[in-house]
Amino acid sequence: MTIDKRLHKALLTWYEKEGRHSLPWRLTDDTYHVYLSEIMLQQTQVNRVRDEYYPLFLEKFPTIKDLADAHLDEVLSLWSGLGYYRRARNLHLSAELSREGLPTSLKELKSLPGVGDYTASAVCSFALNQSVPVVDTNISRVLKRYFGLLGVKDKRVWEYAQKFLNAKEPRAHNLALMDLGSMVCKAKNAECNLCPLQRNCQGKEEPELYTQTKKKEYISMELFFGIFIKNNKIALKLSDDNMYKDMLTLPKVEPLEENYLGSFKHSYTKYRLDVKIYEIEELDGEIVWVNLKEFDYAPISSLTKKAKRFFCNF
Ligand code: ADE
Repeated sequence: MTIDKRLHKALLTWYEKEGRHSLPWRLTDDTYHVYLSEIMLQQTQVNRVRDEYYPLFLEKFPTIKDLADAHLDEVLSLWSGLGYYRRARNLHLSAELSREGLPTSLKELKSLPGVGDYTASAVCSFALNQSVPVVDTNISRVLKRYFGLLGVKDKRVWEYAQKFLNAKEPRAHNLALMDLGSMVCKAKNAECNLCPLQRNCQGKEEPELYTQTKKKEYISMELFFGIFIKNNKIALKLSDDNMYKDMLTLPKVEPLEENYLGSFKHSYTKYRLDVKIYEIEELDGEIVWVNLKEFDYAPISSLTKKAKRFFCNF
């Protein structure tokens, strides 16, 4: 396969004009900052990362050494609300393993916890402008449509990304493909008339054909938690749920007849939760007492924060 240079040019010209150049992680070549942004952007919307989590996190931990020196609780507390807390634990572990600076090769990056093909290539491409392909869901959709790759495995898409790569401007090329996928070659309602690659695109006639629309499956569950407050302190427990490992949550209780305070809905990953809250006055097992004034700075999940907001008048 030979790629017409004019295609590369058309893509870059489009990117120059339409691309999201002001995203803060695109204005830096600091590997740690780019790495952090990529971990945060997994499963979290760009605006939330850009406006809330990324700047706050970097204010607190401007260098990878600062992050490595931090206590895990501080990291989890700043992550509170982003969900998928394993990301934060892996980030902290990776920082401890790379306190003098992240590695700069794909192979070494991939040896860090939580760093897969995508994140390693994103760091090599976006921070270091190395000539490596990057494939995320947006880029994959663009390539599948353009090259007519129906039902192919991820490995094949990476091969096409490698062949299509613009070795002279790998960083801009990969970012252009990402933006094209997110702004023009969208999963639904692709706007082919705005696309710089429309001329030879195999998917132009039927773009939806190349979009896997696996229906998201949700799991509905009822959860029961107790609120126990003594001397301005709230009783929390270290979570026994792997997803919330190292986080503090309200104690689980059996559904009770009495002392019912109310309920609220909460979404977390694939779970749609109906959370019922009870007031309790005793509790077995190991308790972590958190002063209500320090509540916002502890590693506490957003479900627990929500419960406090709704049901504690402090
Ligand atoms: N720029 C670089 N990486 C990005 C990502 N994962 N999402 C959005 N914009 C990005």
